Amino acid sequence: MSRVYNFSAGPAVLPEEVLKEAAEEMLDYKGCGMSVMEMSHRSKMYDDIIKTAEADLRDLMGIPDNYKVLFLQGGASQQFAAIPMNLMKNKKAGYIITGQWAKKAYQEAKIYGEAVELASSADKTFSYIPDCSDLAITDDMDYVYICENNTIYGTKFKTLPNTKGKDLVADVSSCFLSEPVDVSKYGIIYGGVQKNVGPAGMVIDIIREDLIRDDVLPGTPTMLKFKTQADNDSLYNTPPCYNIYICGKVFKWLKKNGGLEAMKQRNEEKAAILYNFLDNSKMFKGTVVPQDRSLMNVPFITGDEELDKKFVAESKAAGLENLKGHRTVGGMRASIYNAMPKAGVEALVTFMEDFEKKNLK
Ligand SMILES: Cc1ncc(COP(=O)(O)O)c(C=O)c1O
Repeated sequence: MSRVYNFSAGPAVLPEEVLKEAAEEMLDYKGCGMSVMEMSHRSKMYDDIIKTAEADLRDLMGIPDNYKVLFLQGGASQQFAAIPMNLMKNKKAGYIITGQWAKKAYQEAKIYGEAVELASSADKTFSYIPDCSDLAITDDMDYVYICENNTIYGTKFKTLPNTKGKDLVADVSSCFLSEPVDVSKYGIIYGGVQKNVGPAGMVIDIIREDLIRDDVLPGTPTMLKFKTQADNDSLYNTPPCYNIYICGKVFKWLKKNGGLEAMKQRNEEKAAILYNFLDNSKMFKGTVVPQDRSLMNVPFITGDEELDKKFVAESKAAGLENLKGHRTVGGMRASIYNAMPKAGVEALVTFMEDFEKKNLK
């Protein structure tokens, strides 16, 4: 077996320990003679899996009791519709546009009501986070929406916007569990799990209870009503059973490794190795303003498209996979999620140093 260093933005690297444990349990989960994949979601065995996963997540994030945790299908993108359907009482909400994922959520919300662009960083290819200290938030807005970590552009909100008392809804797909968060500052925190937490196809929603209501927009599908899912503890229908099981293992791994404070330290250390190199390189350049840099997604360029291509091809041959930038922006991007070991980032920087020596004219 040989494993590469996988810098994919998602689906992405998972802790090796978790994958090994899942492999060991594949045919016979804890002596029950079947795989978790084959198990009834109504069984006692599975009930333990989902309840333990939720309890561990609550513990890791310090989720207050008045927040529900939902494990849902449809990925993060499904929430682009579910959020306005459930929350747009006044049919109006504010969106901060910091990249493609925020823009997609904004465009989807427009189907259901008035989505107002409160701020944007489109003018500089989303390379920074706009000032959100005094936005034109009106009284009739149902919520303010952000994408907290912008996977494609590599920016992160270091301070949350001043929402002027409105509920904050945040897509945290690409920074989920990468550092501690104060859940009480949000109305909803949600994220697709395929970056820091587990296999693709599932989203975790953490929703303050008063936002789980019956009076949703007319036509909201039963499955997309938060209340349906909350009343049934994510078991209204068959949930993404295996995903929840793997996420549960990742939660245990996080707890064993010191929780979110320790993750933050580790992630800062890893990111610093790469950013320090980028700041001193004569060939490579980070594309994000230093104060808004993400700890998870690090885009960089050489300024020469041919050289970028060569870099991507040669790094792949050296066992450093998925460093090509998003198809819409080009260049390179290293995603260095929780499960990327420090040795992976060091190997990348060593490779970059060597590439620079060989190719700098
Ligand atoms: C920040 C962010 N939001 C949403 C999504 C979409 O997630 P999904 O593919 O689970 O719908 C992604 C996916 O990469 C993402 O990075």
